[in-house]
Amino acid sequence: MIRDRQRATNVAILAVFCLAVATTIEAVAQASDGRFRPLRFVDFVVIIVMFLTVTLIDLVKISVPQTTFNSIFGVGGAAFVATTIGYGAIAGIIVAGISTLVAELFARREFQKLVFNVTQLIVTAGLAGITYQALVGDTTHVPLSSTKTAIAALIASLVYLAVNNILFSFMVGTAIGKSPVTIFLANAPGSLLQNITLPPIGLLLTTVRELSPLTVLIALIPLLGPYIAMRGYREIQLQIQRTIEALADTVDRRDITTAQHSERVANYTRQIIDELGTIRFAEAEAIILAARVHDLGKIAIPDAVLLKPGKLDEGEYWLMRQHPVAGDDILQKLSIYKDSLGVVRHHHERYDGRGYPDGIMGEEIPLGARIVSVADSYDVMTSDRPYARARTISEGIEELIACKGTHFDPKIVDAFVRVLNRQHAPESSAQRAPAPSVVSAPVA
Ligand SMILES: [Fe+2]
Repeated sequence: MIRDRQRATNVAILAVFCLAVATTIEAVAQASDGRFRPLRFVDFVVIIVMFLTVTLIDLVKISVPQTTFNSIFGVGGAAFVATTIGYGAIAGIIVAGISTLVAELFARREFQKLVFNVTQLIVTAGLAGITYQALVGDTTHVPLSSTKTAIAALIASLVYLAVNNILFSFMVGTAIGKSPVTIFLANAPGSLLQNITLPPIGLLLTTVRELSPLTVLIALIPLLGPYIAMRGYREIQLQIQRTIEALADTVDRRDITTAQHSERVANYTRQIIDELGTIRFAEAEAIILAARVHDLGKIAIPDAVLLKPGKLDEGEYWLMRQHPVAGDDILQKLSIYKDSLGVVRHHHERYDGRGYPDGIMGEEIPLGARIVSVADSYDVMTSDRPYARARTISEGIEELIACKGTHFDPKIVDAFVRVLNRQHAPESSAQRAPAPSVVSAPVA
């Protein structure tokens, strides 16, 4: 399956590359019909400065991580729109292509990602420029100076946004085996700010150059505002997530036998979600985020209880059963976990209602909590613990099946058993459960 995805990704990259070549040929053909305003020396200066600005911005662009892929936030889009509409598709292609290439080389991006990111921007900027030129007829008019040019500029901006988002969704979807529509919807909230603000700024840049081309250089400076604000916001979000996950890992490592437990549970959770295939992308992300820190509340459990090798007494058992509530209390204060709360609080509920902390049952238990419950229990069963040796994969599967309808949601057990059977068949009866692989790598 991974090999199939790799092959599909290569074909998709080749398709985008061919599209970039076709776009460039069309842009050259369109520009060679002589209806375009010749560029002055000062225009070249502005284009070069625009190029340098975009390149510098690209070098420090913001990665917006999700559990499955990374979105990128940068303000280069404003300069791409300004160049391709203000100075023609060829200028847009050159600025977008070369600046992205330089940024990708500095970032030492893998060859595949480099080719995709460069060609994606060439197609995006090129098609926007071609659209504007085709609608206006020539480049002697100032964008936004008449209804006709304003509408043409607006349509060209929409082409820029649509092509950019569609190609990104298409490529990421191909690489990770998800529908492009799913990726598009998942990426939309994170990219909304740049999608709404950057094209208009680009259009204003093309207009102010009529005052004096060098005015564009001054007008580029305010771009730093949204960039710095977004960068700070994203960094804080990322640092919060990393801190919480580091705390969860620290809790795991308090007991040598549970090291990396949360990481494995998150990966089992992802596999179950993929197998079920019916959970919306955003909900899946929230469940996986929660699975990664599901035992965070154990931070409130003293070593004497958490690491006790023998049976817990009644008081100790009560204390232990408070950890989902303690985890929920911590995460409630953090907005990035606002959709993950029920998962952490209810991951020890049972399908028959005999679990804790609230004793809810069946479909009352949040779907994510029912999934994490299965993933968590399987990892506990198949790992060595102070009180029990690790069970084999077969024994783990048998136990999951035996607890269908009592401890676990039957359809989730069925999905996970299908995953495990696929991964481990034919399997030696003495084989122990290996750690699942880390999540799929981000693409762009
Ligand atoms: Fe737990």
